[in-house]
Amino acid sequence: MKRIFSGVQPTGNLHLGNYLGAIRNWVRLQDDYDCIFCVVDMHAITVRQKPEELTANTREVAAAMIASGVDPKKNIIFNQSQVSGHAELAWIFNCVARLGWLSRMTQFKEKAGKDKENASVGLFAYPNLMAADILLYKATHVPVGEDQKQHLELTRDIAQKFNSDFGVDLFPMVEPLIFGAATRVMSLKNGAAKMSKSDPSDNSRIGMTDDSGAIARKIRKAKTDPHPLPASPKEFDGRPEAANLMGIYASLADSTVEDVCARFGGEQFSTFKQHLADLAVAKLGPVQEEMRRLMGDPAYVDGVLGDGAARAREIARPILKEIQEAVGFLGA
Ligand code: TRP
Repeated sequence: MKRIFSGVQPTGNLHLGNYLGAIRNWVRLQDDYDCIFCVVDMHAITVRQKPEELTANTREVAAAMIASGVDPKKNIIFNQSQVSGHAELAWIFNCVARLGWLSRMTQFKEKAGKDKENASVGLFAYPNLMAADILLYKATHVPVGEDQKQHLELTRDIAQKFNSDFGVDLFPMVEPLIFGAATRVMSLKNGAAKMSKSDPSDNSRIGMTDDSGAIARKIRKAKTDPHPLPASPKEFDGRPEAANLMGIYASLADSTVEDVCARFGGEQFSTFKQHLADLAVAKLGPVQEEMRRLMGDPAYVDGVLGDGAARAREIARPILKEIQEAVGFLGA
């Protein structure tokens, strides 16, 4: 059986990059796999969070998943902190993983920055919790972007070391699931930077709760270059804004950049932007409307997360028991 686990941080300011790069791909997985989608609030607190914002952002991510078409009946959607097995297994993995392994994690180095002394211990141990997320359910596949590949490698190292230290064949070797043309959405103001929730300019991103007026305006104002659009992706060199906008179009249209170049090559940006705005409003409008509706109904969203957590606990319980026995923890 194939089981997918995926986690997303409740960061707030969800945008088109989160949608095209992650959430929308999950919708496509639900028919072929047994999927567990987790809002990783425990990972979020590895850096300082305001409590009310963490709660609101957890609901926002859950609402975005549901609004995008992830079916909460068919899949499990829950927030991490409701299933205590994540923390329990993470502790065991803190004792399996080596300091040296974690010191090589590039995400820690980036997030801790220069002032490593002042980073939380949780930020350092972050990848162990991520390994626990995945292995608590013996997930076999994890959809990941480039930036998470190293963490997935570490998950495999931990699984292997646990199996060999305790002489068991308990954990599967998890495989990354890379999406064919996973879209890396860049800032509308700078084609060389990733679209980001922390960019000070709101015009740099299309938000998941923006209305159609805002979507159209942001696309109209997006940075371009003075040349007509390229007729082939080969001409994207040195034209990151053209590459980004045409990539977004292709992704929203479920088409390829080759097709988009063939159709719009030679046109002016202004014409193309009109088409892109219409397409974005048509594709995102219904998702955004549903998302706003769900955010106005927190009781429903909380119910989905509570129900998902209960189902997740059921899957985790016998696996955690098996792990505890392997370690030698005495239990009734
Ligand atoms: N580290 C992931 C990220 O920042 C989030 C995450 C936490 C995750 N646990 C996971 C992703 C388990 C996949 C599987 O994007």
